[in-house]
Amino acid sequence: MSALPNPAQAPLDRLGRPLHDLRLSVIEACNFRCGYCMPADRVPDDYGFDQAGRLSFDEIETLVRGFARLGMHKLRLTGGEPLLRKGLPALVARLAKVAGIEDLAMTTNASLLARHAQALRDAGLQRLTISLDALDPALFRTLSGGRGEIDDVLAGIAAAERAGFSAIKFNCVVQRGINDHEVERMAAHFRGTGHVLRFIEYMDVGTCNGWDRARVVPSRELHARIDARWPLRALDANYRGEVAERHAFADGAGEIGFISSVTAPFCGDCQRARVSADGSLYTCLFSGSGQPLRSWLAEGDAAFSTRLAELWSRRADRYSELRGRLSAPRKHVEMFLVGG
Ligand SMILES: C[S@@+](CC[C@H](N)C(=O)[O-])C[C@H]1O[C@@H](n2cnc3c(N)ncnc32)[C@H](O)[C@@H]1O
Ligand code: SF4
Repeated sequence: MSALPNPAQAPLDRLGRPLHDLRLSVIEACNFRCGYCMPADRVPDDYGFDQAGRLSFDEIETLVRGFARLGMHKLRLTGGEPLLRKGLPALVARLAKVAGIEDLAMTTNASLLARHAQALRDAGLQRLTISLDALDPALFRTLSGGRGEIDDVLAGIAAAERAGFSAIKFNCVVQRGINDHEVERMAAHFRGTGHVLRFIEYMDVGTCNGWDRARVVPSRELHARIDARWPLRALDANYRGEVAERHAFADGAGEIGFISSVTAPFCGDCQRARVSADGSLYTCLFSGSGQPLRSWLAEGDAAFSTRLAELWSRRADRYSELRGRLSAPRKHVEMFLVGG
């Protein structure tokens, strides 16, 4: 039986940031090939996804217990596409019982959600974030690398609502000349639904997406467009380190958000660790390499948390804030390995 989390044990990193938030990838494979994440020409079907190398459910539970001992209380499951991991509701049920986890969420492309939403809800999943870059069927198909159908996603959303998920967050990565003409249509679709659409700046993550700064649409531009059509009022952050700038529609039709990871980076409050499906820890989304955890996990959650605390106390990452001052581009972990 694990001890309850003891806030006195909670380590701070070298910039005084606690470890409150874990993004855990349960699988590195995906059924989509979004160009900004996993372009099909760079990540073909026979890419060599390592099913045998994935952490087992026992290892994942030990890992989550170890993180929770250090004060991690927000856990998000991600991927690749997490719904491709076999038995996911059983894993959710185990993680929902870990002492200290106050918020258990998942990020998904929702293409397979219709068949899993109820089981995930019953297992204890509290919140959903759904990635959705366009509503137009042809554009949606193109953006998914020719593999996704918007109707499947809409069916997944409906199933999630029926299962009791509310205030679902929708992430829309906006790229100039690609889907920026869909912005008002997306906002109109989600206004008044109780769900929260967030526009995300296209980021220079990974090494294979051929990032082009000219395709980044700054949040301030999107804010001005939405505000001109539906006046907005700024809202306070929900918690320290929240990445989205929150705004309310002045007419009471709910909330919308902007994530400015390129034009207004926010490393100063980053309390997030990321673990890939094969059990490597990344202390920054832009890390070049991770710390393998599997041998630490074999020692049990208490010993694991001691090693983890030591590692976290050495952390000093703030890549996004330094990006403009770096002379050469750095090698980054791929987004589909650490899950956003
Ligand atoms: C890597 S995906 C994993 C979970 C799931 N497959 C999904 O798409 O929701 C997590 C998030 O990363 C975002 N993402 C991937 N590459 C990105 C990029 N270059 N810039 C901004 N966001 C990106 C996706 O839009 C998605 O919301
Ligand atoms: S963003 Fe998500 S759905 Fe798209 S390729 Fe990456 S992992 Fe797959």
